Amino acid sequence: MNDQASSLRSRKYSRPTPQEDGLPRARRIAITSGKGGVGKSNVSLNLAIALGRMGKNVLLVDADTNLANIDILLGLRVDLTLGDVIFNNAFLNDVLIPGPEGITILPGSSGMVEMLEKDDAYRQRLMDTFETLEKEFDVLIIDTGAGLSENVVRLVAASDEALLVTNSEPTAITDAYAMVKVVTHINPNQKVHVVINLARKQQDALATFENLQLAARQFLQRELTMLGHMPYDKNVPLAVEKREPFLLMFPRSGASTAITMMARKLLRISYKQSSTDNFLSQVLDKREDE
Ligand SMILES: Nc1ncnc2c1ncn2[C@@H]1O[C@H](COP(=O)(O)OP(=O)(O)OP(=O)(O)O)[C@@H](O)[C@H]1O
Ligand SMILES: [Mg+2]
Repeated sequence: MNDQASSLRSRKYSRPTPQEDGLPRARRIAITSGKGGVGKSNVSLNLAIALGRMGKNVLLVDADTNLANIDILLGLRVDLTLGDVIFNNAFLNDVLIPGPEGITILPGSSGMVEMLEKDDAYRQRLMDTFETLEKEFDVLIIDTGAGLSENVVRLVAASDEALLVTNSEPTAITDAYAMVKVVTHINPNQKVHVVINLARKQQDALATFENLQLAARQFLQRELTMLGHMPYDKNVPLAVEKREPFLLMFPRSGASTAITMMARKLLRISYKQSSTDNFLSQVLDKREDE
């Protein structure tokens, strides 16, 4: 068991003491896309592991509503989820699952935004839970569901940075642009890093990024950053089938090299916390109609 999880498990959850309030908060990175099935969960999991390897305390928050959840990608058995902490008095420490390279997984968090709409006591418990988590970890990687549903958009807009995964197909690019547009509307200063997946060649990935960048500049006055590209790699579905992260199973594969480079680049990029407020209070603030 990794140190992070054991430290969290060893004590019962309690509200942070005022002395802890001076602690820096985690860097919040939401992994998103417009179109589904473009590789978000695989990027989330393997990027989290790569960052863990580079010495970061990473919490991977599984807020994806689809079937290929992080726990499935890792072959984990999930008995308790965030909902059990909020509604059934389970301890947070019993919900967190230790993962490879010291990362920790918060499974089954897809209903987070709906939980925020519940009555005050539940909302407070959820806020307090995130307050604790954000002080314990260096980085939160939040794997969101696909699409532009309000809940997904709010999670993305509340993060310090969005990591937008797309492939080069026109449908995926159009949906990726739509995501940038909606998020820009709510949080105009948020950094958006783009990952082009299933790229045949580097030039193709750059061309796709430039198209997206051109549209964002022209219509939204937004600059995007290119974080990297990942080739089509037959080892990715093989690793998925074996319920193992490809970074561990095929460390020399093209996908693994790409993810490692992206993790290094991410750590070189300076970032500014959008707010020192609790992540979920940011989510509450980020309604599209505001
Ligand atoms: N670089 C790649 N090379 C080959 N296959 C890939 C690559 N990236 C992703 N895939 C495959 O694409 C499928 C979808 O990946 P993944 O589940 O990560 O996407 P997602 O965006 O999280 O999907 P959803 O929107 O349903 O949550 C997986 O079966 C995976 O094996
Ligand atoms: Mg997914």
